Amino acid sequence: MYYKINTYGCQMNVHESEKLAGMLEEMGYVSTVNDEEADVFVFNTCCIRDNAEDRLSGNLGAIKKICMADRTKIVAVVGCMTQQKGVAEKLRKSYPYVDIVLGTSNLVELKQAIEVAKRRKKYVSIKPATMDASLELPIARTSYPNAWVNIMYGCNNFCTYCIVPYVRGRERSRDMASIVADCEKLIKEGYKEITLLGQNVDSYGSDLEGVTFADLLERIASIEGKFRIRFMTSHPKDINQRTVDVIAKYKNICNNVHLPVQSGSTKVLEEMNRKYTREDYLKIINALREAMPDVGITTDIMVGFPTETEEDYLETLSLVKEVRFSNAFTFVYSPRNGTPAAKMEQIDDEIKKRRVVELIALQNSITKEISDEYEGKVKEILVEDVNPKYEGTVCGRTECGRLVTFAGSPDMIGRFVNVKITRSQSASLFGEVEE
Ligand code: SAH
Ligand code: SF4
Ligand code: F3S
Repeated sequence: MYYKINTYGCQMNVHESEKLAGMLEEMGYVSTVNDEEADVFVFNTCCIRDNAEDRLSGNLGAIKKICMADRTKIVAVVGCMTQQKGVAEKLRKSYPYVDIVLGTSNLVELKQAIEVAKRRKKYVSIKPATMDASLELPIARTSYPNAWVNIMYGCNNFCTYCIVPYVRGRERSRDMASIVADCEKLIKEGYKEITLLGQNVDSYGSDLEGVTFADLLERIASIEGKFRIRFMTSHPKDINQRTVDVIAKYKNICNNVHLPVQSGSTKVLEEMNRKYTREDYLKIINALREAMPDVGITTDIMVGFPTETEEDYLETLSLVKEVRFSNAFTFVYSPRNGTPAAKMEQIDDEIKKRRVVELIALQNSITKEISDEYEGKVKEILVEDVNPKYEGTVCGRTECGRLVTFAGSPDMIGRFVNVKITRSQSASLFGEVEE
């Protein structure tokens, strides 16, 4: 018996797919990448932008023939997209071979849903995204030497463009003791990197008594052993000096912060309900660089938000030049039904396209300049995988999250090695192991 999971969207979903896999493996299913072989298909969906939704329709369409020919195949569509109004109904009409639909708080029902589907009955269960029944699930981890650890679920921020608070519900922090216990266990098992996950990690603990994200970081950083800590995503309105100081103080907390700015225009930031100004953002960048001169800062930027004028957009470009992000994820605003920004007057698609192309070109040139600065330096790398593009090589990341490729063999995966950077190629670096 085989299963195949297709995952869309963010790291949160990648990790939740590990929980879905954990349940399937407990039931005796084995992972496959082959559509013909799969007995159970799971689509763990995302609805952050149009294109995530389009990819799901494409992939569901691709298995139609197989599933219609063999009605013992079970198809489940789960996660963020199913929480949107009308989606379950649309799935029922357009994809009659979908047997199971589970909301973001219903993933834990997968086992019983499969038992029902085996009797050729539909199983649809979507509750308001307020609970997280997924904490105690078995996890089939797929990202060694990294392990994902949820520290919180949901989001309270309601940025006016964003669907996440609607499909993931309100913010819930996990209890600190259970997070720390998970991390201790993972490190004992040999994981070398822990990545803490939350939509806004800086507000961790706001629904608990007397704990903050900085406390949690310190506590995890004090666990015995050689390992790295990463975390995402930080929010400019909530990151504070104490958190910055804790990141700087502990060697095992990576000097790498993903701090989405979204726009360089204070006016647009206000329309987005981001609750910080351009100046606030630049102050945080200064504080980070003062505490950690070598800190790697990455970001998310959006162009084409409804109220974005050419002037606003130029302010985004000027912020990008000023900050010099080591990397930026760039997005074209995509209206999401039910969010305030979707009801505003929209910008022409051509303008959006031109803006994003220019922005990407600017960031690429900065990324390349920063890459060039690595040449000749020696960096500690955690070996993550073989690099299938080049025979006889492995790759891993610097503390700042840069990918480096060098000669090596699969037995090196999970080891820390010092690598001298010899060459850079846009965002990628190449080097040699130093003895
Ligand atoms: N919680 C994180 C990000 C979650 S979504 C944060 O607050 O930063 C990841 C990124 O997707 C966002 O940072 C944003 O840049 C982008 N995004 C969110 N909604 C979008 C939309 N409607 N259209 C285009 N991009 C969007
Ligand atoms: Fe969306 Fe804003 Fe929450 Fe991030 S902080 S998930 S962008 S609403
Ligand atoms: Fe993530 Fe997409 Fe849901 S970005 S939280 S999987 S809408």
